[in-house]
Amino acid sequence: MMEAYDTNWMSTVGKNINEIEGQIAEYVGVKYAVALSAGTAALHLATKLAGEKIYGQPRPNKGTLDQKIVLCSDMTFDATINAVAYEDGEAVFIDTEYDTWNMDPAALEKAFEVYPEAKIVVIAHLYGTPAKMQEIKDICDRHGALIVEDAAESLGAQYKLNGQWVETGALGDYNCISFNGNKIITGSSGGMFLTNSKEDAEKVKKWSTQSREDAPWYQHEEIGYNYRMSNVIAGVIRGQLPYLQKHIDEKKAIYERYKEGLKGLPVSMNPYDAENTRPNFWLSCMIIDEDAMCKQVRDDKNALYIPEPGKSCPTEILETISLLNAEGRPIWKPMHMQPIYRNHAFITARGNGRARSNAYIKESGLVDVGADIFDRGLCLPSDNKMTPEQQDMIIDVIRHCFE
Ligand SMILES: Cc1ncc(COP(=O)(O)O)c(C=O)c1O
Repeated sequence: MMEAYDTNWMSTVGKNINEIEGQIAEYVGVKYAVALSAGTAALHLATKLAGEKIYGQPRPNKGTLDQKIVLCSDMTFDATINAVAYEDGEAVFIDTEYDTWNMDPAALEKAFEVYPEAKIVVIAHLYGTPAKMQEIKDICDRHGALIVEDAAESLGAQYKLNGQWVETGALGDYNCISFNGNKIITGSSGGMFLTNSKEDAEKVKKWSTQSREDAPWYQHEEIGYNYRMSNVIAGVIRGQLPYLQKHIDEKKAIYERYKEGLKGLPVSMNPYDAENTRPNFWLSCMIIDEDAMCKQVRDDKNALYIPEPGKSCPTEILETISLLNAEGRPIWKPMHMQPIYRNHAFITARGNGRARSNAYIKESGLVDVGADIFDRGLCLPSDNKMTPEQQDMIIDVIRHCFE
């Protein structure tokens, strides 16, 4: 940062940007990285690029996905999928599976049955745990679909693809990471677009710097954005990168400590496939067994519960944790349940996830994995500055909730 200041490169050009692009590309194992102002900017340009690849260059006042269906992760932060709307597309949400809390490959397969015309899949790795990418890539290959990978939460996590360990951020066609203040390493803000295609990297860099053509004056043939990373921010990230593995180790220790400390309670930690994935353990979460849930109801803003001996619920635990001045969170509310996307299609492993109950039939076979994890799960305080003593207090509080 001080180098940027001292050399007067207080701009979106400079050595820090060049260095960090090279270092991240090498770390993740892709050929090209383009430094951007945020993960959201990376997701926008990655999604736009996927759209332009498949559907061509749009009129300046239209998105590249105008009226096109895009199959998207459902249980994620909305920045993963908002870019579909920025580009005028229609996100269809794919239900989650219990093994990794990510996109369910069986539901994705169903979605391609319903929407054979879909050609883009946007997938996130929730809380630093890689999704089932082997299955998802195979399905996408069979349907000729491009993958936009959101590795914002999972930098440093790895997945065994065709027997080889691959970093998340190198698993899709167009990949995105974030350096937001809450991520495993941060620049205070920032993000990157990652790809193996020089042409695509150059296109994204052009779009991110107002889409200037090669002319002596400002000349434009396509819509541009001011999305480039600042050289000052890049300096912070340069300083952080050497600590990435340390942060992962600390986060893993926090996860393991919770796992041990919560033993014997009717709860389990957010799961992962220990054979084929190495998560970065960005957030430790837990889920309460169905029969240990006390009654809890939520509307769009508030939550209420009825305390019951031996049982608890995320609302009770989060309220009690907050008494220690510690911060837990509900699970990211699935996109198909969000007011803004409530009328978008939602596909589960059994097909259409909407309108499934029937007043005349008792057993309706409702399956909505995302809604269930949202109901019974919660994110635990996971900051790597938390001391073991502080973490023990959280564990004690959770134990107390089940008394
Ligand atoms: C899964 C996911 N995608 C995208 C983003 C957006 O990244 P940024 O905040 O850098 O725009 C975030 C969080 O910030 C995220 O958690």
